[in-house]
Amino acid sequence: MLDIVIGLQWGDEGKGKVVDVITEHYDVIARFQGGPNAGHTLKIGDRQYVLHLIPSGIFRQGKLNVIGGGVVFDPVVFRQEMQDILMVVPDADQRIYISRRSHLILPTHRLLDAAQEKAKGKSKIGSTLRGIGPTYTDKASRSGMRMGDLLMKDFEQRLKEKIDQHLRLLDFYNYHDFDLDSLMTQWLEAAEYVRQMNIINSEYFLNKALDRGARILAEGAQGSLLDIDFGTYPFVTSSNTISSGACIGLGIPANRVNNIIGIFKAYTTRVGNGPFPTELNDPTGEMLRKQGNEYGATTGRPRRTGWLDLVALRYAVMINGVTELIMTKADVLDGFDTIRAAVRYNIDGQQTDEFPFSLDNVRPIYENIKGWKANLSQIETYQGLPQEFKDYVKFIEQIIGKKITGISVGARRREFIYCR
Ligand code: GDP
Ligand code: IMO
Ligand code: MG
Repeated sequence: MLDIVIGLQWGDEGKGKVVDVITEHYDVIARFQGGPNAGHTLKIGDRQYVLHLIPSGIFRQGKLNVIGGGVVFDPVVFRQEMQDILMVVPDADQRIYISRRSHLILPTHRLLDAAQEKAKGKSKIGSTLRGIGPTYTDKASRSGMRMGDLLMKDFEQRLKEKIDQHLRLLDFYNYHDFDLDSLMTQWLEAAEYVRQMNIINSEYFLNKALDRGARILAEGAQGSLLDIDFGTYPFVTSSNTISSGACIGLGIPANRVNNIIGIFKAYTTRVGNGPFPTELNDPTGEMLRKQGNEYGATTGRPRRTGWLDLVALRYAVMINGVTELIMTKADVLDGFDTIRAAVRYNIDGQQTDEFPFSLDNVRPIYENIKGWKANLSQIETYQGLPQEFKDYVKFIEQIIGKKITGISVGARRREFIYCR
């Protein structure tokens, strides 16, 4: 049985926290796309961990963690992350498996990311500069290098040719401000470390596990509105972040998918550039940023904030085939007298409840919801939640047409309420 956790907005919905909570119901946790552009935060006890490449199941004893073929893999990031985790989870390296098919992020991919963003000037994406776009570009143009290549005899020769090609491109961008030797030394040391890991044919590993009755949880990175096909193109990432991406990125057929768990924040955030209809550039937006501690887990950038957008959410639920919804960061709205949510868009005088091709002239139409005066983080059961909050939940369920089955009311593991 395969369940998929997916972000329904522009990323940072709290996927890491939710995966950490529900991992107890699964045997294997698998990342299927993206790479170290992701930052998934887990708060365990008093300590906070940010995971970029390693699945969020790693802190749970006995659970296996797979980095699937759809992921783009940076050995330097992986080694650092693994060494940090090993300090608290001594068997972490025994429970991690990396697909031979995952593409390698080279130092020059990161440089190209920076050079290309610079060349875009005002229209830059606001990339995390982790080399994601250039690595997927090489993959699509059939010239990338994969994890499995690391184990081949001619690896060094092919690596050299690839780097030379990237250097010619960097020259074209007139981008020269880097020390390639030190970057390569660091990368090759990390690659040597990765060679000692469990490098597997993950499609066989996972399908055989399913045959034995294992429960697998696919952990999405980024969010549906950053999907390369269905997001707010060109202000998107370079992979398929929606649920179908899990089948591609893991080699698991669609008919083995069971639940699709969509995660959304009780409001909206976005980091990086691109349209954001319900954005608040005012004291309310500032209050959301402050109370929600909305700063990027990967880059530390302040996140843009705004009200919940139910037009976008309904669209995301549709393209993902979401079967259950989990709302996060509900506690962040605690102090508000009135909460707003966009229910329709007005585009050049026409009203629509569909997410359009272009968000250029969109004016959101809001409904107001009465706030609650309670500290949600202190509440442990659905019954114990204030009526105004339950009304907010019902209001969202009615518009989206799906049930909310879990509510996160704080960053910690135990701050989570199952609705059933
Ligand atoms: P992800 O990328 O989807 O895993 O989300 P991030 O980790 O980037 O961002 C979510 C942030 O919110 C992290 O700092 C989490 O610790 C925090 N967080 C997660 N769930 C909750 C919640 O229910 N309430 C509050 N206040 N914080 C939360
Ligand atoms: P998690 O998994 C939020 C954004 C970047 C930028 C755009 C493209 O933590 O939710 P890229 O580095 O992929 O070329 O950047 O996508 N972005 C994210 N925003 N959460 C993420 O991951 C993101 N990963 C990429 O800010 O706008
Ligand atoms: Mg994040």
